[in-house]
Amino acid sequence: MTARLVVLVSGSGTNLQALLDATADPAYGASVVAVGADRDGIEGLARAERAGVPTFVVALGDCADRAEFNDRTLAAVAAHDPDLVVLAGYMKILAPHVVEAFPMVNTHPALLPSFAGAHGVGEALAYGVKVSGVTVHFVDAGVDTGPIIAQEAVTVRDDDDEATLHERIKTVERRLLVDTVGRLARGGRPKIEGRKVVLP
Ligand code: GAR
Repeated sequence: MTARLVVLVSGSGTNLQALLDATADPAYGASVVAVGADRDGIEGLARAERAGVPTFVVALGDCADRAEFNDRTLAAVAAHDPDLVVLAGYMKILAPHVVEAFPMVNTHPALLPSFAGAHGVGEALAYGVKVSGVTVHFVDAGVDTGPIIAQEAVTVRDDDDEATLHERIKTVERRLLVDTVGRLARGGRPKIEGRKVVLP
């Protein structure tokens, strides 16, 4: 069976592209059935369109309030009947009833639980860490607090700025996200004991 992925993006969508490329191989075990965004006119949506994947946009500014934003996002995702929702650079915090509606993973450009939130790369750099990295985790009701599925470290160089460090992290991130999503898609249910996740 091929797992149905809905991918949510807010930006350039290079992680989405890595997933689209991986799903071209039937052995990967998953296909991207829709890409959603919280804003129009982004490269992430253009990547989906070029790949012939349906897209949708639910923008907070087009909604009366956050409750409507969450309900419309939930309905748009549910319409594609996903087995797994992947947040790939999606920069909105979704309400608990939305994240609990589907199995959902997020990729974050730091080693959680350090440097959660929207500015993980810059905050890690400003803190002076020598090692940062990427975390792929299940999404729960908190901000980047869900059980960790996979992590990989990236060494910080003395001359790094936010852009150079983020680019090196993203090179690792795309590979780790593709690997993790593929394992979830092919392998069935992971074992989750407390916070500890073991992939089959
Ligand atoms: C990725 O590095 C992702 O981890 C980050 O945004 C980037 C999106 O890149 N997400 C967050 O910081 C979420 N807190 P992309 O649009 O090229 O895939």
